[in-house]
Amino acid sequence: MAAKAKAKKAKSKSAAKRSAKKIAKLKAKKPAAKAVVKNSLPRPSAKPWGQAGRALDGVRILDFTHVQSGPTCTQLLAFMGADVIKVERPGVGDVTRSQLRDVKGADSLYFTMLNGSKRSITIDSKHPKGKDILEGLVKRCDVLVENFAPGALDRMGLTFDHIHKLNPRMIVASVKGFGPGPYEDCKVYENVAQCAGGSASTTGFRDGPPLVTGAQIGDSGTGLHLALGIVSALYQRSRTGRGQKVLCAMQDGVLNLARVKLRDQQRLQRGPLTEYSQFGEGVPFGKATPRAGNDSGGGQPGWILKCKGWESNPDAYIYFITQAPVWSAICDLIRKPEWKTDPDFATPPARLPRLRRIFDTIEEWTKNMTKFEVMEICNQHDIPVGPILSMKEIADEPSLRATGTVVEVDHPTRGPYLTVGNPIKLSDSPPDVRRSPLLGEHTDEILRKVLGYADKDIAEIRASGALSATERKAEAA
Ligand code: COA
Repeated sequence: MAAKAKAKKAKSKSAAKRSAKKIAKLKAKKPAAKAVVKNSLPRPSAKPWGQAGRALDGVRILDFTHVQSGPTCTQLLAFMGADVIKVERPGVGDVTRSQLRDVKGADSLYFTMLNGSKRSITIDSKHPKGKDILEGLVKRCDVLVENFAPGALDRMGLTFDHIHKLNPRMIVASVKGFGPGPYEDCKVYENVAQCAGGSASTTGFRDGPPLVTGAQIGDSGTGLHLALGIVSALYQRSRTGRGQKVLCAMQDGVLNLARVKLRDQQRLQRGPLTEYSQFGEGVPFGKATPRAGNDSGGGQPGWILKCKGWESNPDAYIYFITQAPVWSAICDLIRKPEWKTDPDFATPPARLPRLRRIFDTIEEWTKNMTKFEVMEICNQHDIPVGPILSMKEIADEPSLRATGTVVEVDHPTRGPYLTVGNPIKLSDSPPDVRRSPLLGEHTDEILRKVLGYADKDIAEIRASGALSATERKAEAA
């Protein structure tokens, strides 16, 4: 009996030992297996921040863009580290190279500020040999970006189906003026989009005509939307293995940026828009969101006020927001302490019908100081204000240079120029802001290194006229 019990005890001891071993083994294995299977991510890099390459390293873009909307998109992707190959028409290139030219014979700032950090190859896309080269590039790139007029890419023979056959992983990203519908075939420029996207009807003063804004929300705004579409498609491709079409219509992009005005359109059906100055002025609202002048677009009333020197300096103004939590501080600064308790001024709803009087009174105070003095005082009290900065002041602002938002680059034919660097700051991806390429500067390099042509082949291609406008004309003649 004792021997039996002893044997049983020994058996259960060794079983416990075995299962403890098993548990320990599982415990040791589990975390590593989980991390790899769940995310399929490599181990976190041990390299110092900013030394593990750039966000879009390894992504190659076939850049068929021109003018502004498309080039802003591909420039951002280039700043993020993508290899952007800009295909241009031989002899002329992107039309903006010569538009608004300020230095004789040099690429314009219009072009140079939208095409930094890219490579340029000239190819006649309508020449048979040119088509071969383009197809070679389609096979070797990850994304094709274009903003031609509707149908132009198809007329070059580069339909989505054909591209997808050549390279099923290719993402084809386009900017068009309008999405599918009655206007889909229209050519569109910036201000057309601002008007069709609802921005112009809601910008300007009530008693004046609609206004377009200086910020290029139709072109650069849509380019930015497209860039987001492209990186999202690249991310999806990492799971599906296949590319897709990305379309951004400029009308949609502008409307997305003007969405608060569509918000107001719906609010209007339920009563007046009390934060618009016209409410306080007793002017009735019509059927559509009106132009709001300099009224704030949000729930905190604001206006542009004169500062010292406004009589001669068009930018001696400041945007002043009467944010509710700092109302007492505002009253003290403008020497109206009684407004803190006066029932006509003490609460935000009470102030709404009196905004004109309030801002006129604040302006009596701001008019005695420069916009920077007003800003300094207001900042001490957490009052949100914005000096109206001229482009000259922005160009000279040291803090914008320090952050790389404004960058000076050198150019072989025009000399140094200022450009806007990457406004999106990634802590582990240093921005790559370089000058724009000369027309066809990298043609040979791309033919050789990306497409693998030998010198003899390149000479033949050149002789065919596929890379040069003049040779093609001569051939046709
Ligand atoms: N080799 C040969 N031909 C080339 C070429 C090349 N490398 N690159 C372009 N082309 C040709 C195209 O094939 C097309 O010819 P096609 O009309 O005979 O087919 C033509 O050049 C480009 O035409 P298009 O895009 O119509 O230029 P445009 O100057 O007449 O119009 C826009 C400019 C901006 C109005 C128009 O492109 C457009 O509406 N784009 C979409 C919206 C947009 O992005 N607008 C904002 C621009 S900032």
